[in-house]
Formats: sequence, structure tokens, C-alpha cells
Amino acid sequence: MILNVVKVGEESFSSLRKGSFVQQNPTHRRLFAVLSRALPSVFLGAVVSALLPFSSGAYGQTQAAGGQASESAVVNVYSSRHYDVDKEINDAFTKATGIRVNVVSVKEAAQLVERMKAEGKRSPADVLMTVDVGNLQVAKSAGLFGKLKSSTVTDGVPAHLRDSDDEWTAVSFRARVIAYDKSKIKEGEITSYEDLADPKWKGRVLVRSSNHVYNQSLAASLVTALGEEKTESWARGVTQNLARKPEGGDTDQLKAIAAGRGQIAVVNSYYAGRLLASNTDEDKKTMQNIALLFPNQGDRGTHVNVSGVGLVKNAPHAAAARKYIDFWLSKESQSKIANAMFEFPAVVGVEPAPVVKAFGSPKFDTVPLSKVAANSPTAIRILDKAGWR
Ligand SMILES: [Fe+2]
Repeated sequence: MILNVVKVGEESFSSLRKGSFVQQNPTHRRLFAVLSRALPSVFLGAVVSALLPFSSGAYGQTQAAGGQASESAVVNVYSSRHYDVDKEINDAFTKATGIRVNVVSVKEAAQLVERMKAEGKRSPADVLMTVDVGNLQVAKSAGLFGKLKSSTVTDGVPAHLRDSDDEWTAVSFRARVIAYDKSKIKEGEITSYEDLADPKWKGRVLVRSSNHVYNQSLAASLVTALGEEKTESWARGVTQNLARKPEGGDTDQLKAIAAGRGQIAVVNSYYAGRLLASNTDEDKKTMQNIALLFPNQGDRGTHVNVSGVGLVKNAPHAAAARKYIDFWLSKESQSKIANAMFEFPAVVGVEPAPVVKAFGSPKFDTVPLSKVAANSPTAIRILDKAGWR
């Protein structure tokens, strides 16, 4: 196993795994222990990259598995994802190419972006992986990404799921769907996001906070399709229909329907997929009375968002990073992501997981997501003004 994972945050750098450069070197280990107690993670990152030869010398000259020691036999990945399948793909990449993968894993993408900004040109990061176009746009606006220049990306991933300036691409995508209690609401009573604002649903809608990027991007998609004014009255209508003050994540909204706290929820498709594919009685019970609908089939299609990746502009190992991104888009990796995450594969022609396939062939909104992301600041202002906290 040649994967190193660094988790930043509470665990700080104490969770460096066996095999990492720091772990193997007692002087650096002591230095890290002192720094991780004394400095916030963002500054620690900057100090780390300044002190350690991350992009060259000892760190860069990794003895790759089954290959020659090489300057480029490593790729440094900053990721806000934390899934087992990522490790599986990284291990397969190392096996196939001999290129070692170092992962800096942080839950919040914003922290990674701040860290990269603080590290500046000395950042060891080659690749940034995160979810939601809102986060990718923040990194893009900060000038952190370079051009992907990959035919694997342009030939395999539909245009609306990648950046119009070629600075990031989806590795998978998810739909923001509406779940409802089928014992209380008839099929066809709700068909669109716009319907959620209808006063007839007063006290029945469940949704997470508007501080979360999923809702910000959904609102940004409405700004893109309907304009500011209509989105504002929509946000006000939805806020007035809430069954409770926004709380919890998407799965919590599904559980709240099952518990009778409300009847309609807005969730990402993979959360429903996970529960539907689960073997536990609790999850089965949660989904027992819940139906899913893909909104806006009669017009623009259902809003989608991405898990995505960008190549860092000053990537110390750009060639390896390009290979790494292409590997995530290989049929084999795409199939792994689809079956483990219940997201839709980004590459055309790859089958989704059986439970996702059972959703049918919904029509998706194909407006370029970079256009949606550009409306994110407007959407955030509108959600705040509407009182959707
Ligand atoms: Fe999520």
C-alpha cells in the first residue's frame, strides 16, 4: 500500500500514516508535533510546504512500485472527499502507473482552498478534488487551476459537466431530487422545484440550511433559468413552507419524512440511493413510504451537480497529475465510483449502479455548470434575504 493520507483539522498531522516522509523521519515528526499544536492548519500548511522538500528531493524521488525512482513518480492530492472508493482508485492508479499518491484530506473544501492560497506557488498540491461546482468555482476564481488539456476529459465528459475554460471536470454527478411521503402526497402533485413554493405545502417542506453549497447551487440554477426576481419569490415561498427550521444533512431530511416531521424533502440523489441499496432494517424502513421525483422533466430538466477535480496551476508534478485525472475518468474507475457512491458516472457510456439505474432515464438540466456557479453569489444573497437560514 503506497497511499499516504494526511487529515487536517482536529486530528491535524498526527494522523500521518505509516510510510510517509514525515513519519519516517524523527526530526520532521517532532517538528510536525510542535507545529500542529502551535499553528492553525492553514498556516501549518504554509509552513509545511516551506520547510519540507515536498515537490522535489526526498519526497519527489519516490521509489515507485515496480518502477524506477523518478522525480515525477508522485502526485499530491488535496481532497475534501473521504470515501473508501477514492483509496481504491488511488491504489489502482499506483499499481497501474507506479506513481505514488499522497492525499491531504480535509472535510471542508474552503479550508483546502485557503490553504492553497496561503501556500502560494510553493504549494505541493498537484490536484484538487472536491464536490459541488460552487467549491470548484471558488478555487477557479482564486486562480488556483491550470488548463486540463485532456482528450479523455473533452471526449468523455459532456460539456455541461466540465468547466467552459477547461479548468475542472466532473468525475461523477448527482441530481438534486425531491423526496415525498407517498402515503400523503399523490404522484404528479409536485413536478418541479417551483412547486415547492406553492402555499398549499405550508409546514410540509424539509430542507437543509441555505449555508450549504448544495442549496446555494440549486438556487443558482434557478437564477440561471428564471432570473433573480422569480428566484427571490421562490425562495421566500419555500421558506414559508418549511416544516421546521433547516437542520441536519440530506439523509436527516429523509429520516424526518419517515418520522412524520414533514412530507417533502430536497436531497441529493445518492443519499436516497444509499438508503435504497442498504440492507439494514432501519434504512429500509426510512424509504418505505418515500417516493423520489426528478423535478422539471417538462422543461429544463433536473438540476445536477458534480464531484469534480482540477489540475493545480503550479502543480509540481503536472504530468503525473494529468495521468491521475485521466485515470479517474477511465471506465474502470467510473464504474467503481458509480457502484460505491450511487452517483451518476461523468463519462458517457458507463452504467450507473443498479439502484440508480432503477431511477429511469430522467432529463437533466444541461445548462453549463460554470454558468450556474457564476450565479452563486446572487443566489446566496437571495437565500439570505428570504430568511432561509
Ligand atoms: Fe453530500
